[in-house]
Amino acid sequence: MPRAAGCPMDPAPGLAELQAQAPLIRVRLWDGSTPWLVTRHAEQTALLTDRRVSADWMLPGYPFFNQYMRDHRQEGQFLTMMEGPEHIRLRRMVARPFTFRKVERLRPAIQQTVDDHIDALLAGPKPADFVAKFSLPVPSIVICRLLGVPYEDHDFFQRAITTVTNRELPDEVVGEFEGKLYRYLDQLIGRKLAAPDDDLLSQLATERLATGQLNRHDLVMLVLFLLISGHETTASMIALGTLALLQNPGQIAVLKEADEAGVIAAVEELLRYLTTVQPGRRRVAVADIEIAGQVIRAGEGLVLPDEISNRDDSVYPDAGTLDLRRDAHPHLAFGLGVHQCVGQPLARLELQVVFATLFHRIPTLALASDLEEVSFMNDGIGYGVNAMAVTW
Ligand code: HEM
Repeated sequence: MPRAAGCPMDPAPGLAELQAQAPLIRVRLWDGSTPWLVTRHAEQTALLTDRRVSADWMLPGYPFFNQYMRDHRQEGQFLTMMEGPEHIRLRRMVARPFTFRKVERLRPAIQQTVDDHIDALLAGPKPADFVAKFSLPVPSIVICRLLGVPYEDHDFFQRAITTVTNRELPDEVVGEFEGKLYRYLDQLIGRKLAAPDDDLLSQLATERLATGQLNRHDLVMLVLFLLISGHETTASMIALGTLALLQNPGQIAVLKEADEAGVIAAVEELLRYLTTVQPGRRRVAVADIEIAGQVIRAGEGLVLPDEISNRDDSVYPDAGTLDLRRDAHPHLAFGLGVHQCVGQPLARLELQVVFATLFHRIPTLALASDLEEVSFMNDGIGYGVNAMAVTW
């Protein structure tokens, strides 16, 4: 469903209307299937943590984003679309560097990356594209270092990622770029095996691949997934968050006065208010579930978009207002249950450093165009900003 013109931060009006109607509604998808749309916070919370609900996209009834995904799905391909012991095993393998304590050690390096990019922005011509100069490179550099992917190759992998996560492009284009990304990462694994470094890819290659705990295909798919989730979402949060604040100057003042706890709260509110993974969580029931006066039958699909549950007025009074002083917990921006975002401590830290720094360093930061001229990603799995001219 399209968002309303001039309201790029808000969910599609059609989705909000469905939320007002009922907590669970049958909807029709692109392929004629009719899964349940779960509209409200309480029911999404209950279902995302219910063991009778599965994320396994090999099961009949799973609600696909598009034909390409349905036709090309493979077992064990992506963490978010698998379930059970294999999911837990793979998730544990990649989760180690993303614990709160481990990522906290990255704070000085992240601060340095943010400062360097602000210096470069200020030293360059204006107006400048905020996405190309700041919001995309910062999280991309951070995740590349952590994974061990050479950032020098960012032109290639960023273009490839935008292509493979686009829901509208022809199958052959998506397939071509998927193949290129796959071969790129496969070759990189070869290099890590030959000359390991201090990064997650080297660690997985030497400790898991070399010992037979992971095969090469699974490792490529894991790293591909981490590379996609690790920079696109955070980059979009930085760009959308900055834009949302520029549209709400009173909130910039709140942010600039905030202490450490205030910045943490502000980031949680931005996560609640904005959406970067837009087609919602996708699930399928594996047993009958009675909820909110309805019975979801085993084999029926579920679509659970956080863009409306995070705007549920019964949980967040005046939910459509950005209020950095509110307690935005427990928002669903990182999902919930066994698939809850592995990278959330890293994403939170990056966002806290960015938003504690940006408006102090560039107090006159402003959009250099009308809002209508900002280019948004409307057709990707991720929602965000393609380009945004800023001045100061
Ligand atoms: C603001 C930034 C981010 C947002 C909004 C976000 C959002 C999400 C959401 C909603 C899910 C759950 C998907 C589902 O339940 O179907 C998820 C899962 C995941 N995210 Fe993030 N994410 C962010 C940043 C990151 C980062 C930096 C990483 C690091 C690599 C990461 C890695 C993952 C992984 C590996 C999963 C799959 C977990 C599983 O299925 O077990 N994410 N993310």
